[in-house]
Amino acid sequence: MTPAPGALLRTRISGVGRYVPERVLTNHDLEQMVETSDAWIVERSGIRERRIASGDETSGTMGARAAEEALASAGLTGSDVDLVIGATCTPDGMFPATATVIQDAIGAGSASSFDVNAACTGFLTALSVGSQFVTSGSAGRVLVVGSETLSRVVDWTDRSTCVLFGDGAGAVVLEPTQEGEPGGLASPVLRSDGALGDLLYARGPASARPGARGIGDNGADPLRAVASCIVMDGRNVFRHAITAMTEAAQACLAGAGLRAEDIALCMPHQANVRILSAFARNLELSEERVYMNLERYGNTSAASIPIALAEAVAEGRLSAGDRVLMVAFGGGFTWGATVVEWSGVRRPERLAAVPGSRASTAPPP
Ligand code: UT7
Repeated sequence: MTPAPGALLRTRISGVGRYVPERVLTNHDLEQMVETSDAWIVERSGIRERRIASGDETSGTMGARAAEEALASAGLTGSDVDLVIGATCTPDGMFPATATVIQDAIGAGSASSFDVNAACTGFLTALSVGSQFVTSGSAGRVLVVGSETLSRVVDWTDRSTCVLFGDGAGAVVLEPTQEGEPGGLASPVLRSDGALGDLLYARGPASARPGARGIGDNGADPLRAVASCIVMDGRNVFRHAITAMTEAAQACLAGAGLRAEDIALCMPHQANVRILSAFARNLELSEERVYMNLERYGNTSAASIPIALAEAVAEGRLSAGDRVLMVAFGGGFTWGATVVEWSGVRRPERLAAVPGSRASTAPPP
C-alpha cells in the first residue's frame, strides 16, 4: 500500500533474500589455472572458494532469484512492488537496466526500475536512494537488489585479481515503519573520489548476455567469456579501504548519535579478512560483531552486503531493535556507511541451511 504523500516515515527492511550460483570454484581449482596456492589466498585474503555463474545466468537472472526470496520473506509478491533498484557494476547489457530485467522476471508489472553503479558501494547507495523514496512517500514498497557477474569481467590469467572475486545476488524489501515499531535507516554517509579511479576499474563493456561472444572466445565457458577486465592496484586499494571504511563508519555513528558498542552486528562489504580486521580494530568493534562470509563467496561487489545480511538473518543473528552498521568501499573510489535499526524479518525458509564448502563439481576451465 502506498502511504499518503507528506507523511513523515521511517524505512524498515521487511524482507531479505539471496541467490548464489551452484558452481563452486575453490582455491585448489585456481592452483590449476594460475601460479598461486590455497595457502597464499587464505593468508592474504581469507577467501577459500567463490561461486561462478553458469552460461545462462546473468546479474538479472540471479537478482530475480534473490528478489523472489526477499519478497517471500516479506510475505509479498512482485505485484506489490512500486520500485526496483538494481545495484550492479556487471549489468546484463548497456540497457535495459538490470533492475528492469528483474522487474519483468518477478512480475512487478506496476513498478518502475533503474540501476545504480557505485561498484562495491552500490548496494549502500541503492539502499539510501530506496529509503528516500519510502520516507518521502513516493513509493510504498521498494526492492533493492545487489547482483554481480564478476566472473565475466575478471582476467582469469591475472593471479593478483582473479582469486578475489565471485558471483551472486542479494536483495532486500523496504517498507515504511509502522508507528511504535522498530526500524529505520540512520545517517547514511556516501562519498566518492574520482581522482582515485585508477586504483580499481574495469575496462570495456559489461557482462555479456548469454550466448554473446567476447573477443577471441567461443562463449562456451563463463570463465573464458571475458570481453573486459578488472584492473586493480591491490596494495593501494587495501590502504584506502581501511581509512575510508573507518572514517565513513565513524561519521555515520556520530551522525546517528551512537557509539561502536551500540552496534549489535556490523555488516561490511566482504572484500578481504585483513581489511575487515583492521577496520574492526580501528572502530574497537570485537570481531565476533563483524559478520564475515567471504571465505565462501569472495568479493561479490554490490551483492556482498545483501548476501551477508540474508545469511545473518537465516542464522538468527539479528533481533528486532538491533542496530546494524553497514559499511562499504569500492572502485571509483567510492565508500559509505549507514546504520539500520533492525525491524525483525521472517526467517527466509530456503536459507535455513546455508550451503557449506563443497568440492568443485566442474573441471578447471
Ligand atoms: O572491493 C574492493 C576490491 N579490492 C580489494 O579489496 C583488494 C584490496 N587489496 C588486497 O586485498 C590485497 O592487496 C591483495 C589480496 C590483492 C594482495 O595482498 P598483498 O598482501 O597486498 O600482496 P601484494 O600485492 O603486496 O603481493 C605480494 C606478493 C607479490 O610478489 P613479490 O612482488 O613480493 O614477489 C605478488 O606478485 O604476492 C604475489 N602475488 C601472489 N602470489 C600468489 C600476488 N597475487 C598472488 C597470488 N598468489 N594470487
